[in-house]
Amino acid sequence: MRMCKSTESSYAIARSGRAWRRPDGDVSEKKMPKTRLGRLIPWAIIGLVMTMSPVMEGLAQQDGEPEGQQASSRLPQTLEERLAAVEKIRKAPWAKGGADTCLACHGEYSEYDLLPMFRTKHGTAADARSPMAQHQCESCHGPGGDHAVLRLRRGEQRPPMLNFGRDAWTPAAVQNETCLTCHRTHSRIQWEGSTHQFNEVACASCHKVHVAHDPVLDERQQAGVCYECHIHQRAQFEQISHHPVREGQMVCGDCHEPHGSSGSDLLVKATLRETCTECHAEKRGPFLWEHAPAAEDCGLCHRPHGSSHPALLKRRSPQLCQECHSQFNHPSIGFDGSFATSSRFVTAKGCLNCHSQVHGTNHPSGVSLTR
Ligand code: HEC
Ligand code: HEC
Ligand code: HEC
Ligand code: HEC
Ligand code: HEC
Ligand code: HEC
Ligand code: HEC
Ligand code: HEC
Ligand code: HEC
Ligand code: HEC
Repeated sequence: MRMCKSTESSYAIARSGRAWRRPDGDVSEKKMPKTRLGRLIPWAIIGLVMTMSPVMEGLAQQDGEPEGQQASSRLPQTLEERLAAVEKIRKAPWAKGGADTCLACHGEYSEYDLLPMFRTKHGTAADARSPMAQHQCESCHGPGGDHAVLRLRRGEQRPPMLNFGRDAWTPAAVQNETCLTCHRTHSRIQWEGSTHQFNEVACASCHKVHVAHDPVLDERQQAGVCYECHIHQRAQFEQISHHPVREGQMVCGDCHEPHGSSGSDLLVKATLRETCTECHAEKRGPFLWEHAPAAEDCGLCHRPHGSSHPALLKRRSPQLCQECHSQFNHPSIGFDGSFATSSRFVTAKGCLNCHSQVHGTNHPSGVSLTR
């Protein structure tokens, strides 16, 4: 059970006037008795109830199952149950007292530290668009009137709140709808139909909102978030030739738009080539002498993440070149000891010894991409 042991924290923060005052005035403030003793009485009562609740829970458990099982059976399991629970939450009343009420139980002393949110944009009540200027916690977690009751009857279970993340009971589509009520802007207009939406990835699988700094928005930590699901890509970036993500010089988001894009593979640009030439502009052309594949698709020769061959190549020269070019013009079989003349075509950098301008060239006599 994640019950808090004290209400002091939320009280202290509420008194300091920081953060989540409701737009219509601080509810808890209005109700506060004026004398010193008077002020303490309600808190003393709440404190008493809180300290007693473990005892009461203990009593309730005597005729129930062990705590762990009880906690999990509290939450809806099948899809129908989960959708029904969502409907029920949506019809519930708003909790009296807003965030103050929630923090009475989910405050500083609860296992899950959610207070750092008040240092983020979501916790800025001064911004009218922010949840804290609206229904506060309940803007995201749904109306909490039923959940936030102080005392449960014997045998009664606390109704769930909408919850977020990969393992939360709330269906991803419902979670995401909640975030999108405010965030159907910028790149999220492409969210519907994107690979991540289609595969029911939750916004909160990538984003953390109760921490001061969301790791996925941090250049050094972003890849780690993606690797939680994309383990193969981690291995690719470990290869000897790789884009410098590991070195912190670039992020997945430089090439991918995780919220959805008009191109394939969630690329930031419509095509792979456009994505690459954003940074490697010198390869964009047009050139006087084009090399057809380079004008078409960089992926014909390169791997985007990493490779065991130099320069992110799929294969080494000459094999790479021989995928498309026959040996008709030059002999280009490997040196077998008898055919010495062939070796200059295949040793060292192979074809690149002479055809160095494989991406195209503007040199007047560069027709064979040699200069
Ligand atoms: C009287 C104490 C109390 C109050 C008030 C309260 N909660 Fe809870 N809440 C709990 C307990 C206890 C749990 C954990 C249940 C469990 O894990 O078995 C919980 C769980 C949750 C969860 C996890 C999802 C779930 O249902 O298990 C969320 C989210 C949550 N509360 C949000 C809120 C919000 C938002 C408010 C204010 C509207 C609020 N709570 C008010 C006691 C409270
Ligand atoms: C009630 C409206 C509202 C809801 C609901 C909401 N947000 Fe926000 N969010 C905001 C506002 C306002 C900002 C600040 C935007 C700005 O400054 O441009 C913000 C900012 C963000 C940012 C950027 C933070 C930064 O530091 O730049 C992320 C990421 C984000 N929200 C994710 C989420 C996720 C995930 C959810 C759902 C769990 C969600 N939001 C739900 C209003 C909301
Ligand atoms: C696959 C991981 C992933 C998922 C899923 C995801 N995001 Fe993001 N989000 C990112 C990354 C990475 C960035 C930073 C890169 C950028 O600016 O595009 C970001 C940036 C943001 C920002 C702040 C920058 C901006 O564009 O305004 C907001 C707000 C946001 N996401 C909201 C959402 C919402 C809402 C959802 C769910 C519909 C969502 N995200 C789903 C990875 C994700
Ligand atoms: C912008 C939307 C948003 C707002 C506002 C918000 N939360 Fe959350 N909450 C989340 C998300 C998303 C998670 C999942 C973990 C994470 O992202 O950090 C979460 C997780 C939680 C959990 C942990 C549930 C668990 O699984 O143990 C509790 C408890 C909780 N929130 C309570 C609150 C309370 C209390 C408030 C008001 C002070 C609040 N939340 C405000 C989005 C929100
Ligand atoms: C919660 C799991 C999860 C996280 C975290 C996640 N993804 Fe994904 N991603 C998926 C799933 C599921 C798919 C679809 C199946 C697949 O291709 O593996 C996918 C597919 C993709 C694709 C292929 C798109 C396509 O159209 O084929 C790209 C690119 C991608 N993700 C990038 C990212 C980036 C960048 C991040 C981090 C910002 C990220 N993902 C984080 C689950 C995740
Ligand atoms: C230099 C640009 C670039 C960077 C940086 C990059 N990607 Fe990619 N990624 C691509 C391209 C291009 C493709 C399409 C590959 C193809 O079509 O063969 C791709 C494909 C993918 C796919 C689809 C499956 C696959 O491998 O074809 C996933 C998943 C993916 N990237 C995840 C990531 C993650 C996670 C990161 C960060 C750790 C990342 N990418 C960084 C360019 C990039
Ligand atoms: C966001 C900018 C950016 C984008 C987009 C980008 N690159 Fe790069 N690329 C870099 C950086 C930075 C390096 C490292 C340069 C260095 O180490 O001097 C690099 C290096 C390379 C190298 C040389 C690697 C080596 O080991 O020598 C190749 C090849 C390459 N990129 C190809 C591509 C291809 C193909 C794409 C498109 C899928 C692409 N790049 C997209 C920034 C980018
Ligand atoms: C026909 C195969 C082929 C295609 C297509 C191709 N490249 Fe290359 N690329 C190579 C080879 C071979 C090298 C190694 C050159 C060397 O070692 O001198 C290379 C090297 C590079 C390098 C690192 C060295 C340098 O010259 O800066 C970058 C960056 C690069 N390519 C980007 C691209 C981009 C961007 C595209 C798409 C516009 C592309 N390549 C298309 C074969 C190709
Ligand atoms: C994906 C297939 C493909 C790969 C791989 C490839 N090429 Fe090409 N190359 C072509 C095509 C198509 C043409 C144009 C042929 C034409 O116009 O008749 C061409 C043309 C050429 C030309 C002649 C230019 C001219 O028109 O006279 C040279 C030289 C050349 N390639 C060298 C290389 C080298 C060196 C490599 C390896 C680094 C390589 N190619 C890899 C497809 C490829
Ligand atoms: C020792 C230098 C050298 C090496 C190594 C070399 N070439 Fe060439 N190649 C040339 C020259 C010079 C030409 C232009 C003269 C010609 O047409 O014979 C040429 C022309 C070509 C052409 C265009 C032929 C045509 O019909 O116009 C292709 C394609 C080609 N080379 C592919 C390759 C491939 C593939 C390799 C690696 C297996 C390779 N070359 C290795 C020097 C070289």
